[in-house]
Amino acid sequence: MNVLLFGATGMVGQGVLRECLLDPGVELVVSIGRSATGGRSASDVSNPKLREIVHADLTDYSTIELQLTGFDACFFCLGVSSVGMEEERYRHLTYDVTLAAAKTLSRLNPQMVFVYVTGRGTDSTEQGRLMWARVKGKTENDLLKLPFKAAYMFRPAGIQPLHGIKSKTAWVQAIYAGAAPLLALLNRVAPKYMTTTEQVGRAMIKVARDGYPKPVLESEDINRI
Ligand SMILES: NC(=O)c1ccc[n+]([C@@H]2O[C@H](COP(=O)([O-])OP(=O)(O)OC[C@H]3O[C@@H](n4cnc5c(N)ncnc54)[C@H](OP(=O)(O)O)[C@@H]3O)[C@@H](O)[C@H]2O)c1
Repeated sequence: MNVLLFGATGMVGQGVLRECLLDPGVELVVSIGRSATGGRSASDVSNPKLREIVHADLTDYSTIELQLTGFDACFFCLGVSSVGMEEERYRHLTYDVTLAAAKTLSRLNPQMVFVYVTGRGTDSTEQGRLMWARVKGKTENDLLKLPFKAAYMFRPAGIQPLHGIKSKTAWVQAIYAGAAPLLALLNRVAPKYMTTTEQVGRAMIKVARDGYPKPVLESEDINRI
Protein backbone atom coordinates (compact mmCIF):
# COMPACT_ATOMS: atom_id res chain seq x y z
CA MET A 1 0.00 0.00 0.00
CA ASN A 2 1.27 3.48 -0.92
CA VAL A 3 0.10 6.14 1.54
CA LEU A 4 -0.09 9.92 1.26
CA LEU A 5 -0.10 11.54 4.71
CA PHE A 6 -1.21 15.09 5.55
CA GLY A 7 -0.42 16.51 9.01
CA ALA A 8 2.57 14.25 9.69
CA THR A 9 4.16 16.95 11.89
CA GLY A 10 1.14 17.00 14.24
CA MET A 11 0.20 14.74 17.11
CA VAL A 12 -2.25 12.52 15.24
CA GLY A 13 -0.16 12.51 12.07
CA GLN A 14 3.02 11.54 13.93
CA GLY A 15 1.18 8.56 15.37
CA VAL A 16 -0.12 7.54 11.97
CA LEU A 17 3.33 7.98 10.42
CA ARG A 18 4.88 5.73 13.07
CA GLU A 19 2.40 2.94 12.43
CA CYS A 20 2.80 3.25 8.64
CA LEU A 21 6.58 2.97 8.91
CA LEU A 22 6.23 -0.11 11.15
CA ASP A 23 3.60 -1.89 9.03
CA PRO A 24 5.18 -4.29 6.51
CA GLY A 25 2.12 -3.90 4.24
CA VAL A 26 2.84 -0.20 3.74
CA GLU A 27 5.50 0.14 1.06
CA LEU A 28 5.73 3.91 0.79
CA VAL A 29 4.63 6.89 2.91
CA VAL A 30 4.77 10.33 1.37
CA SER A 31 4.17 13.12 3.86
CA ILE A 32 2.92 16.42 2.52
CA GLY A 33 2.58 19.72 4.34
CA ARG A 34 3.91 23.23 4.71
CA SER A 35 6.82 21.87 6.78
CA ALA A 36 8.89 18.67 6.84
CA THR A 37 8.70 16.06 9.59
CA GLY A 38 12.48 15.96 10.19
CA GLY A 39 13.48 15.63 13.81
CA ARG A 40 10.02 14.84 15.21
CA SER A 41 9.69 11.79 17.41
CA ALA A 42 7.81 9.52 15.03
CA SER A 43 9.73 10.52 11.95
CA ASP A 44 12.76 8.62 10.76
CA VAL A 45 14.05 10.60 7.82
CA SER A 46 16.54 7.84 6.99
CA ASN A 47 13.71 5.29 6.60
CA PRO A 48 13.61 4.33 2.91
CA LYS A 49 9.80 4.05 3.09
CA LEU A 50 9.43 7.77 3.85
CA ARG A 51 9.46 10.63 1.37
CA GLU A 52 8.46 14.21 2.03
CA ILE A 53 6.83 16.90 -0.06
CA VAL A 54 6.97 20.43 1.32
CA HIS A 55 4.30 22.52 -0.37
CA ALA A 56 3.42 26.04 0.71
CA ASP A 57 -0.07 26.47 -0.76
CA LEU A 58 -2.26 23.66 0.54
CA THR A 59 -5.23 24.90 -1.50
CA ASP A 60 -3.54 24.51 -4.90
CA TYR A 61 -1.73 21.38 -6.10
CA SER A 62 -1.58 22.21 -9.83
CA THR A 63 2.23 22.42 -9.88
CA ILE A 64 2.83 19.07 -8.15
CA GLU A 65 0.06 16.84 -9.53
CA LEU A 66 2.61 14.42 -11.03
CA GLN A 67 3.85 13.64 -7.51
CA LEU A 68 0.31 12.95 -6.23
CA THR A 69 -0.56 9.89 -8.34
CA GLY A 70 -0.22 6.18 -7.60
CA PHE A 71 -1.54 6.24 -4.02
CA ASP A 72 -3.84 3.62 -2.47
CA ALA A 73 -4.69 5.65 0.61
CA CYS A 74 -4.64 9.20 1.95
CA PHE A 75 -4.62 9.73 5.71
CA PHE A 76 -5.66 13.35 6.27
CA CYS A 77 -4.54 14.32 9.79
CA LEU A 78 -3.98 18.03 9.16
CA GLY A 79 -6.31 20.09 11.33
CA VAL A 80 -6.53 22.86 13.89
CA SER A 81 -8.34 23.53 17.12
CA SER A 82 -11.16 26.07 16.83
CA VAL A 83 -10.36 27.53 20.26
CA GLY A 84 -9.88 31.30 19.90
CA MET A 85 -10.28 31.20 16.12
CA GLU A 86 -12.74 33.19 13.98
CA GLU A 87 -15.21 31.03 12.02
CA GLU A 88 -13.91 32.25 8.66
CA ARG A 89 -10.32 31.21 9.46
CA TYR A 90 -11.40 27.90 10.98
CA ARG A 91 -13.58 27.14 7.95
CA HIS A 92 -10.69 27.93 5.60
CA LEU A 93 -8.20 25.68 7.42
CA THR A 94 -10.74 22.90 7.95
CA TYR A 95 -13.08 22.88 4.96
CA ASP A 96 -11.20 24.68 2.14
CA VAL A 97 -7.81 23.07 2.75
CA THR A 98 -9.25 19.56 3.13
CA LEU A 99 -11.59 19.74 0.13
CA ALA A 100 -8.89 21.27 -2.12
CA ALA A 101 -6.65 18.29 -1.43
CA ALA A 102 -9.44 15.72 -1.61
CA LYS A 103 -10.87 16.99 -4.91
CA THR A 104 -7.43 16.87 -6.53
CA LEU A 105 -6.68 13.41 -5.12
CA SER A 106 -10.03 11.84 -6.09
CA ARG A 107 -9.44 13.00 -9.67
CA LEU A 108 -5.85 11.70 -9.77
CA ASN A 109 -6.40 8.47 -7.74
CA PRO A 110 -9.89 7.02 -8.24
CA GLN A 111 -8.75 3.84 -6.45
CA MET A 112 -7.79 5.78 -3.33
CA VAL A 113 -9.28 5.26 0.15
CA PHE A 114 -9.47 8.64 1.93
CA VAL A 115 -9.46 8.75 5.72
CA TYR A 116 -10.20 12.06 7.48
CA VAL A 117 -9.82 12.90 11.17
CA THR A 118 -12.65 14.94 12.61
CA GLY A 119 -13.75 14.48 16.21
CA ARG A 120 -16.46 13.18 18.55
CA GLY A 121 -19.53 15.42 18.34
CA THR A 122 -19.10 16.36 14.68
CA ASP A 123 -22.46 17.65 13.45
CA SER A 124 -23.63 15.86 10.31
CA THR A 125 -26.72 18.11 10.10
CA GLU A 126 -24.43 21.17 9.64
CA GLN A 127 -27.11 23.14 11.56
CA GLY A 128 -26.15 22.78 15.22
CA ARG A 129 -25.01 25.33 17.77
CA LEU A 130 -21.28 24.52 17.82
CA MET A 131 -19.29 26.23 15.08
CA TRP A 132 -16.46 23.67 14.91
CA ALA A 133 -18.92 20.77 14.76
CA ARG A 134 -20.91 22.34 11.89
CA VAL A 135 -17.75 23.04 9.87
CA LYS A 136 -16.38 19.54 10.45
CA GLY A 137 -19.83 18.12 9.61
CA LYS A 138 -19.93 19.90 6.26
CA THR A 139 -16.37 18.82 5.56
CA GLU A 140 -17.26 15.18 6.26
CA ASN A 141 -20.47 15.36 4.21
CA ASP A 142 -18.73 16.81 1.16
CA LEU A 143 -15.80 14.39 1.39
CA LEU A 144 -18.27 11.51 1.35
CA LYS A 145 -19.66 12.77 -2.00
CA LEU A 146 -16.28 12.61 -3.81
CA PRO A 147 -15.55 9.71 -6.18
CA PHE A 148 -13.01 7.87 -4.01
CA LYS A 149 -13.01 4.08 -3.84
CA ALA A 150 -14.10 4.70 -0.23
CA ALA A 151 -13.92 7.44 2.38
CA TYR A 152 -13.92 7.03 6.16
CA MET A 153 -14.42 9.70 8.79
CA PHE A 154 -12.59 9.08 12.09
CA ARG A 155 -14.22 10.78 15.07
CA PRO A 156 -11.94 10.22 18.07
CA ALA A 157 -12.71 11.93 21.38
CA GLY A 158 -9.50 12.18 23.43
CA ILE A 159 -6.32 10.76 21.92
CA GLN A 160 -3.47 9.79 24.23
CA PRO A 161 -0.12 10.46 22.55
CA LEU A 162 2.22 7.47 22.93
CA HIS A 163 5.88 6.78 22.04
CA GLY A 164 7.10 10.32 22.80
CA ILE A 165 4.66 11.95 20.38
CA LYS A 166 3.64 15.52 21.21
CA SER A 167 0.84 17.85 20.19
CA LYS A 168 1.81 21.02 18.32
CA THR A 169 -0.90 22.83 20.27
CA ALA A 170 0.64 23.88 23.60
CA TRP A 171 -2.51 23.69 25.76
CA VAL A 172 -3.44 20.26 24.37
CA GLN A 173 0.08 18.98 25.08
CA ALA A 174 -0.05 20.39 28.65
CA ILE A 175 -3.32 18.54 29.34
CA TYR A 176 -2.11 15.25 27.87
CA ALA A 177 1.26 15.41 29.64
CA GLY A 178 -0.33 16.22 33.01
CA ALA A 179 -3.06 13.60 32.80
CA ALA A 180 -1.16 10.67 31.20
CA PRO A 181 -1.94 8.01 33.89
CA LEU A 182 -5.63 8.98 33.96
CA LEU A 183 -5.83 8.84 30.15
CA ALA A 184 -4.37 5.34 30.07
CA LEU A 185 -7.02 4.24 32.59
CA LEU A 186 -9.79 5.96 30.61
CA ASN A 187 -8.65 4.18 27.46
CA ARG A 188 -9.22 0.85 29.20
CA VAL A 189 -12.51 1.60 30.95
CA ALA A 190 -14.14 4.15 28.60
CA PRO A 191 -13.12 3.49 24.99
CA LYS A 192 -15.93 5.85 23.88
CA TYR A 193 -13.90 8.76 25.21
CA MET A 194 -10.25 7.84 24.77
CA THR A 195 -8.06 6.24 22.16
CA THR A 196 -4.31 6.44 21.46
CA THR A 197 -2.16 7.64 18.58
CA GLU A 198 -1.18 4.00 18.04
CA GLN A 199 -4.79 2.78 17.83
CA VAL A 200 -5.71 5.59 15.41
CA GLY A 201 -2.76 4.80 13.13
CA ARG A 202 -3.39 1.06 13.10
CA ALA A 203 -7.12 1.52 12.50
CA MET A 204 -6.47 3.84 9.53
CA ILE A 205 -4.21 1.27 7.88
CA LYS A 206 -6.74 -1.50 8.54
CA VAL A 207 -9.75 0.33 7.07
CA ALA A 208 -7.72 1.41 4.05
CA ARG A 209 -6.71 -2.21 3.47
CA ASP A 210 -9.89 -4.10 4.40
CA GLY A 211 -12.70 -1.53 4.42
CA TYR A 212 -15.24 -1.00 7.21
CA PRO A 213 -19.04 -1.54 7.29
CA LYS A 214 -19.84 2.16 7.86
CA PRO A 215 -18.20 5.43 6.76
CA VAL A 216 -18.15 7.20 10.15
CA LEU A 217 -16.05 5.62 12.91
CA GLU A 218 -16.40 6.77 16.51
CA SER A 219 -13.74 6.26 19.20
CA GLU A 220 -15.09 2.84 20.19
CA ASP A 221 -14.97 1.67 16.53
CA ILE A 222 -11.36 2.86 16.25
CA ASN A 223 -10.44 0.97 19.43
CA ARG A 224 -12.23 -2.21 18.33
CA ILE A 225 -10.42 -2.50 14.97
N1 LIG B 1 -5.35 15.85 19.59
C1 LIG B 1 -6.52 15.31 19.91
O1 LIG B 1 -6.74 14.82 21.03
C2 LIG B 1 -7.62 15.22 18.88
C3 LIG B 1 -8.84 14.61 19.24
C4 LIG B 1 -9.84 14.52 18.30
C5 LIG B 1 -9.65 15.03 17.03
N2 LIG B 1 -8.46 15.63 16.70
C6 LIG B 1 -8.31 16.19 15.35
O2 LIG B 1 -7.15 15.67 14.73
C7 LIG B 1 -6.62 16.63 13.82
C8 LIG B 1 -5.14 16.79 14.08
O3 LIG B 1 -4.95 17.22 15.42
P1 LIG B 1 -3.52 17.18 16.13
O4 LIG B 1 -3.80 16.98 17.58
O5 LIG B 1 -2.61 16.24 15.44
O6 LIG B 1 -3.03 18.69 15.91
P2 LIG B 1 -1.58 19.29 16.02
O7 LIG B 1 -0.67 18.47 16.84
O8 LIG B 1 -1.78 20.72 16.42
O9 LIG B 1 -1.04 19.25 14.49
C9 LIG B 1 -1.68 19.99 13.49
C10 LIG B 1 -1.22 19.58 12.12
O10 LIG B 1 -1.91 20.39 11.15
C11 LIG B 1 -0.94 21.19 10.46
N3 LIG B 1 -1.41 22.57 10.35
C12 LIG B 1 -1.93 23.33 11.34
N4 LIG B 1 -2.19 24.57 10.86
C13 LIG B 1 -1.83 24.58 9.57
C14 LIG B 1 -1.86 25.57 8.55
N5 LIG B 1 -2.31 26.82 8.77
N6 LIG B 1 -1.40 25.26 7.32
C15 LIG B 1 -0.92 24.01 7.09
N7 LIG B 1 -0.86 23.03 8.01
C16 LIG B 1 -1.31 23.31 9.24
C17 LIG B 1 0.32 21.18 11.28
O11 LIG B 1 1.42 21.40 10.39
P3 LIG B 1 2.68 22.37 10.76
O12 LIG B 1 3.68 21.48 11.42
O13 LIG B 1 3.15 22.87 9.44
O14 LIG B 1 2.14 23.44 11.67
C18 LIG B 1 0.27 19.77 11.89
O15 LIG B 1 0.76 18.83 10.98
C19 LIG B 1 -7.43 17.91 14.02
O16 LIG B 1 -8.40 18.01 13.01
C20 LIG B 1 -8.10 17.70 15.36
O17 LIG B 1 -9.33 18.37 15.47
C21 LIG B 1 -7.44 15.73 17.60
